[in-house]
Amino acid sequence: MRKIIIDCDPGHDDIMAVFTALAHAEELEILGITTVSGNQTLAKVTANILKVQDYFGLHIPVCMGYDSPIIKPREVQPAAHGESGMDGPVLPDPVSKPQPEHALDYLRRTLETEDKVTLVALAPLTNIALFLKTYPHLAGKIECIAMMGGAVNGGNIQKKSEFNIWQDPEAAAIVFASGVPVVMAGLEVCNAGSILLSEAEEFRHGGKVSKFCYDLMKFYGLYAVNRGWDRTPIFDITPVIWLLYPELFKAEQMDVDIELNGEFTRGMTVCTPTTGRPHTVLLDTDREAFIGVFLAALKKLDQIYA
Ligand code: BDR
Ligand code: CA
Repeated sequence: MRKIIIDCDPGHDDIMAVFTALAHAEELEILGITTVSGNQTLAKVTANILKVQDYFGLHIPVCMGYDSPIIKPREVQPAAHGESGMDGPVLPDPVSKPQPEHALDYLRRTLETEDKVTLVALAPLTNIALFLKTYPHLAGKIECIAMMGGAVNGGNIQKKSEFNIWQDPEAAAIVFASGVPVVMAGLEVCNAGSILLSEAEEFRHGGKVSKFCYDLMKFYGLYAVNRGWDRTPIFDITPVIWLLYPELFKAEQMDVDIELNGEFTRGMTVCTPTTGRPHTVLLDTDREAFIGVFLAALKKLDQIYA
């Protein structure tokens, strides 16, 4: 059983990543969720995970972290995730509250107590970088950081940079240089694991969790629909599926350096053959097997949260 803490900015795909982990309770124990600004403000992304927990009767502790990147001004993503950060499903304001503890205190306390914890990072790396800077002696307690972000070649928010890294490049630089092993699920592998829009359309016929994901996908999928694509990556499920089924992926050990000063390349993940502090860069996956894990997860949760 692997113990995980999910650091996220929900976010349609962040929520679907949480569902994927929840469906694998025998393999992954979600100790807690920490939130950080990214897709939307800290208040909005925190409200989103709390609303979802209320709707499904979940009680995972949620701790709020930082509301802006370390240096760069905050630039949220309403085009991709809407004004709420999770447009589509209509849920009441949350009744449950976040824990009173700041995410950094929660991470410190938990890592002091636990033997080893895996961090699943689905958002700008602000919380994790500041945790590593503040409590470097606890870095050894982190089994690995399985994260969604970066790209070997391209970008989505800029030509050469992916949103989570571009939003807080200084944080990403701290994390990748920290000595903690990182498993990077960048744009290439996320694209390889895309869901067909026709597959997502079927969610409407499922149970409570599937129907909720149908509402998520109706908004989240618009980006692809508007471009005439037949599929879309659900980015943040990728590191969770890697934790469960690493054999589904093609990966390489690489150095990853973060470009901080480039006029056109700030936030780029520069991936090169390793010189000794390797991270694992996921490059490709078997789409049908990958998306099959996600589809099976929703079916399983439909039985549990009827
Ligand atoms: C990443 O950015 C966010 O919009 C998504 O939630 C994902 O974590 C994709 O670039
Ligand atoms: Ca995210």
